[in-house]
Amino acid sequence: MRLILLGPPGAGKGTQAAFITEKFGIPQISTGDMLRAAVKAQTPLGIEAKKVMDAGGLVSDDLIIGLVRDRLQQPDCQKGYLFDGFPRTIPQADALKAAEIPLDFVVELVVPEESIIERMSGRRIHPASGRSYHVKFNPPKVADTDDVTGEPLVQRDDDREETVRHRLSVYREQTRPLVDYYQTWAATNDPAAPAYRQIEGLGTVEE
Ligand code: AP5
Ligand code: ZN
Repeated sequence: MRLILLGPPGAGKGTQAAFITEKFGIPQISTGDMLRAAVKAQTPLGIEAKKVMDAGGLVSDDLIIGLVRDRLQQPDCQKGYLFDGFPRTIPQADALKAAEIPLDFVVELVVPEESIIERMSGRRIHPASGRSYHVKFNPPKVADTDDVTGEPLVQRDDDREETVRHRLSVYREQTRPLVDYYQTWAATNDPAAPAYRQIEGLGTVEE
C-alpha cells in the first residue's frame, strides 16, 4: 500500500496514519515529524527549519525533497509507505511524479476550518514518536502522559492560535491546489495515476 494523506493542519493526518501504518505494516513518512526531530537534534537542517516552522510557513521545497528522497532509500519502504504532510506544494508533487514514486491512493481528510483551531489548541504530542492526543477528543490514559512509553506529552510550538491561522492560510494558498492536481490526474487514463478518495474527517477518531 502506497498512499498520500492530504488535508489541512489538524485534519487528523497523524492520528489516522497510526492506524493505517499498523494495518498495512508500512512506515509513516511525516515530513513534519522528521523536521521536528531535526530541530530537537539541532542539526543544520533543524536550525534552519525551526524559524520557518514556528512562524507557520513552509520549509523550502529543495530541503524537503532531499529529505524524502533519502527516507525512501531505507529498506522499510519496500512494502509501501504513507506520506503525511508531503507533498505540500505543486513543485513537491511534481518532484514525486518525476521520480516515478509509485502511488495507489491519495486520501483527503475533509475538515472545516472552524473545527481546526479547537483541535490544535487541545493537542498534546509525544515528541519521540509523533503520537498525537487531544485533551478532550482523544485523551491519553493518564493526563499529559504517552500511553505507550509513559513519557510526558508536550504542546507543539506552532499550535498557538495566530500561528495556526497563518498555517491555514498557507494551506489554502499552497497545498489545497493539490486537491485539484490529484483529482485531475486520477480522472485520466494514466495507469500511474493514484485513485482519489475524500473522507469526512469530522467524526470520532474511530469513525
Ligand atoms: P506538519 O507536522 O505536517 O503539520 P500539519 O500538516 O500542519 O498538520 P498537523 O500535524 O498540525 O495536523 P494533523 O493533520 O497531523 O492532525 P493530528 O492528527 O495531529 O508540519 C509542521 C510544519 O513543518 C509545517 O507548518 C511546515 O513548516 C513544516 N513542513 C512539514 N512538512 C512540510 C513540507 N512537505 N513542505 C514544507 N514544509 C513542511 O490531529 C490534530 C488534533 O486533533 C490532535 O489533538 C488530535 O488528537 C485531534 N483529532 C484528530 N482526529 C480527531 C477527530 N476525529 N475528532 C476530534 N479530534 C481529533
Ligand atoms: Zn501531523
